[in-house]
Amino acid sequence: MGDYQTHEYDVLVIGAGGAGLRAAIEAAAQGTTVGLVCKSLLGKAHTVMAEGGVAAALANVDDRDNWKVHFTDTLRGGQYLNNWRMAELHAKEAPDRVRELEAWGAMFDRTPDGRILQRNFGGHKYPRLAHVGDRTGLEMIRTLQDHGIHQGIEVHMEVTVTTLLKDGDRIAGAFAYDRERGRFRLFRARAIVLATGGIGRAFRITSNSWEYTGDGQSLAYHAGAALQDMEFVQFHPTGMVWPPSVRGILVTEGVRGEGGVLLNSKGERFMFQDIPENYRAQTADTPEEGWRYTQGDKNARRPPELLTRDHVARCIMREVREGRGSPHGGVFLDIAQIKEKLPKAAEHIKKKLPSMYHQFKQLADIDITTTPMEIGPTTHYVMGGVRVDGDTQMSTVSGLFAAGEVAAGLHGANRLGGNSLSDLLVFGRRAGEYAARFAKDHQPGRINSEEVEAAGREALAPFDRSGGESAYQVQHELQDMMQDLVGIVRVEKEMERAAEGLGALWQRAAKTTVVGNREYNPGWHTALDLKALLTVSEAIVRSALARKESRGGHFRDDFPAKDPAYQTFNCVVEKGLDGGMRLRKEPIPELRPDLKAIVDELK
Ligand code: FUM
Repeated sequence: MGDYQTHEYDVLVIGAGGAGLRAAIEAAAQGTTVGLVCKSLLGKAHTVMAEGGVAAALANVDDRDNWKVHFTDTLRGGQYLNNWRMAELHAKEAPDRVRELEAWGAMFDRTPDGRILQRNFGGHKYPRLAHVGDRTGLEMIRTLQDHGIHQGIEVHMEVTVTTLLKDGDRIAGAFAYDRERGRFRLFRARAIVLATGGIGRAFRITSNSWEYTGDGQSLAYHAGAALQDMEFVQFHPTGMVWPPSVRGILVTEGVRGEGGVLLNSKGERFMFQDIPENYRAQTADTPEEGWRYTQGDKNARRPPELLTRDHVARCIMREVREGRGSPHGGVFLDIAQIKEKLPKAAEHIKKKLPSMYHQFKQLADIDITTTPMEIGPTTHYVMGGVRVDGDTQMSTVSGLFAAGEVAAGLHGANRLGGNSLSDLLVFGRRAGEYAARFAKDHQPGRINSEEVEAAGREALAPFDRSGGESAYQVQHELQDMMQDLVGIVRVEKEMERAAEGLGALWQRAAKTTVVGNREYNPGWHTALDLKALLTVSEAIVRSALARKESRGGHFRDDFPAKDPAYQTFNCVVEKGLDGGMRLRKEPIPELRPDLKAIVDELK
C-alpha cells in the first residue's frame, strides 16, 4: 500500500464544525497536544446551517426564563427519551458557553439596552435563541476558528478517516487518507473525539452538504461502540423546493420566529387545524394572538407555526398529499404579509433575515419581502448517534469520545431548533476536557501494523476490482430508498423492503469499481463513503422497525399513537460477535427526584 505519514497527538479531534473546534480548544487549554482533522476545508461545516440562533436561557428578553424551563422544554420536545443528565447539564451550562463566545468576539444582535437579543423558536417557551441575524452558526464557526487558531492546534484539512485503531479495548489511533493526493495518514492518539456531524446524505432531500455521510457514527460502530436512537431523524419543515438544483437547502425557522406563516394553496393557515393536545394550552387561538407573541407580547401564546419540527413537517406533508400543496410539491411560507402589520416591513425582513433574502433572490429569483416562498421538509439532523456518558461524553469504547450531532442523548426523539448550537458548545467543551484528562492518565496505545495494512488494503480495494458499477449509482439508489421508504411517514412493509434493499446494496457496494488514480478522485471517495452510509442506514431501519409507535421524529402510519411502553427505553445497536448488527432495548434510568419535581411543577 506504499508509505504513509504518521502524526502523534495526545488528543485527536475528528471533525471541525462547532463541536470539534470547541473540543479542540478545550483540550489544548488543558495542556495537551491536539490534532484536528476535517474532511473538507476548515470552516465548512453543517454548524452554519443552524442559522436562526443558539438556545440558552439568558432571560434577556423574557425574565421568566431559566435553566429549569429550558430543561423541561428540551425533555418535552424530546418526548422524554432524552438522556436527562445531558439535558440538565446543557440547560445549566448553555448561558455560560454563549457569554464565553461573546467574550471571544461573537457579534450577537442586541436588545435596545445592549444585551444579547433572543428570538422565538419552536418548542421553546420563551424567546431563547441568541442570534446573529440568520447567520448564527456561521458567526459561531468564525469565532471558534479565530479563537482556536491561537491555541497551537494542528489542522489537517481535506483528510478523511476510514478506520479507528484500537489496542485491546481502548482507542489507539486512526487511519486516514488525504483527499487531494490520496496518500495515507496514520494518527496515533491517546484519546479521540468524534465530532463529524450527521447523516443527511443517506437521504435524497437534505440540508446537509456532501460531507455528511455518517462517518463518525460508522467509525464508532465498527470500533465496537454502541449507537442509540438512530430511528429519530429530524426532517426540518422548511427547505427550499424550487428550482430542483437547490431542493433541500435550509430556510431558517427564524422566518417563522419573525412572524412568517405557513399557507396552503387555498391560502389557509393550515397549522391552526392540528394542534397537539400537549401543546394546546401554550398555542395561540387566533392569528392575531400568534402575531402579538412574535412581537414580544408576554400575555400572548405562540403561533402554531412554532410547534415542534416533527409536527410541522407532518402537517406540511398532509397538505401536499391531500392536494393543497404548492406547484412544486411544498407549501408557502409567507413573511411578506407582515407588511400589513409592520411599517418598513421590507427593511425589517432584510435586516433580520439577510441570508434568506439573498438566498431566495439569487437561487430562486424571488423577493421574499413581496412574495411567499415555496418550502417543504428536508432531512436536517439525526437525534441518534454514538451512545455517550452524559458527563464525560466518552462512548462505550475507552478513550473514544463524541460530541455534537454525532453523539446521541440530549435531544431524545426530537431536537428543538437552536439546541444543536448550544449542544455543541456545552458538550464540545466537555468532550475536549475529558479527552484531555484521559490522555494525561493513559500512555499511548500500541498500534498493530497488520491492522494498518488491512485498513490500507480496504481503502484501495475499489481500484483492484474491475467490471463493477459506479459508487454513485449505489449512493443514489440508497438515497432514493431511504427517502421513499424510511422518510417522514413510515410503515412496516416499506421498512422491511428497505431492510432487504440494504442487503442488496451492501453486496453491490462491495463490488463497486473505481477508475483513474488516487489523486483527487471523487469516485473513489464516494466508494469509501458507502460503508458509512450503509451502516447508518441499517441502524436507522433496524431501530425504526423495532419502535412500533410514533414519537418525535419517528412517525409510523401503522402505529400513529405514542405508546407509554416505548417511553421506557432507547434502541441501541452494536456490532455482534458474528459481525452483524444487533439491537437491544436499553432501559432509560429513572429521572432524578429533584429533576422530576421540576418537570412536574412546570408541566
Ligand atoms: O432553522 C434553523 O435556523 C436551524 C436551526 C437548528 O437546526 O438548530
